[in-house]
Amino acid sequence: MIFPCILSGGVGTRLWPLSRKDRPKQFLPLFDGESLFQMTCKRVNHTGFAAPIVIGSNTHRFQMGEQLSDLNIEANTILLEPVGRNTAPPALMAAIIAAETDPEALILLLPSDHLIRKEDVFLETVHAAEDAARNGKIVTFGITPSEPNTGYGYINVASGGEAVRPVEQFVEKPDYERAKAFLKEGSYVWNAGIFLYSARTMIDAFKQFQPELYRDIAAVMETRHSDLDFTRLDQASFEKLDNISIDYAIMEKSDNVVCAPVSPEWDDLGSWSAIWSVLDKDECGNTGLGDTRFLQSRNCLAYSQQSLVSVIGLKDVMVIATSDSVLVAHKENAQDVKTVVDQLKAEG
Ligand code: GDD
Ligand code: MG
Repeated sequence: MIFPCILSGGVGTRLWPLSRKDRPKQFLPLFDGESLFQMTCKRVNHTGFAAPIVIGSNTHRFQMGEQLSDLNIEANTILLEPVGRNTAPPALMAAIIAAETDPEALILLLPSDHLIRKEDVFLETVHAAEDAARNGKIVTFGITPSEPNTGYGYINVASGGEAVRPVEQFVEKPDYERAKAFLKEGSYVWNAGIFLYSARTMIDAFKQFQPELYRDIAAVMETRHSDLDFTRLDQASFEKLDNISIDYAIMEKSDNVVCAPVSPEWDDLGSWSAIWSVLDKDECGNTGLGDTRFLQSRNCLAYSQQSLVSVIGLKDVMVIATSDSVLVAHKENAQDVKTVVDQLKAEG
């Protein structure tokens, strides 16, 4: 059985001021009233998949609970992290939970901040990779890169026509020059951030490459206790865990990694310009969310939470107005929103 594990503990700083600590991007109902978290849950709400294991922050427990019940989806577990310790802990915790029900369990680790337009193509590829995962491989999903984006992992994949291919090298978030060289080389794909593996394989990989973290996480899992629909963990034990992503902790180190290339029209909606690029637009390329108007403007994005936002005579500009903050930025500067958020954090 495949147990989907939905990772929903991220903060999504580049979608400030809408995405906030208490309401991050994966829970925002930006797509016909649905959130990316809900779209991810629906993607694997099919026969062939067990009920999802949802792992996220204690702060967002009600958003997770309500958004799941709106879809009539009952989770296997909603595991609450007292603080964020990145994606390595949940990747192993999901394996431990799934193995308790099914020692042969496979886990499909799914970020909750992605858009996948061709879901059938994606699911076909997942099923085609099942045998590899059962045979002890950690399967990554490779997307043909279109630019030297430094926010992604890069996978050097062997050429050939097989559904699942050997991986020569996994490099998490290279610098710009290296990313450019990878693109030129032609054999590298982007890591989609989605992984398929057996519970046993991941437990063994942690024992081999992260023995201390393995022991700490195993100890944290002993502290599990139920609270209504949720499963809680002891805060002090959890806080002691290293803050590390699964990409650095395991993927860069293991030689058991394989890659299934796939073209499901995948987008990591990490920035406002990425959101603009996937939403429906008017004949001038403008997108408005909420009470917005455009005049003599092209390729703009406007979001309004309360007040009316009018955009006049602008090109490639994004205006995001929430109840307490307004962001006005050129689309090319979409990544720099993170800098503003970092500054705000530093100012306290
Ligand atoms: N439960 C939990 N706890 N989830 C978390 C945490 C945490 O502490 N931190 C992040 N997440 C969730 C996020 O909500 C997101 O859904 C997913 O884990 C991935 O985290 P990101 O922080 O968005 O990772 P990334 O985008 O920088 O990089 C990963 O994804 C890229 C593709 O989008 C890597 O796997 C890259 O290699 C990959 O290319
Ligand atoms: Mg991401």
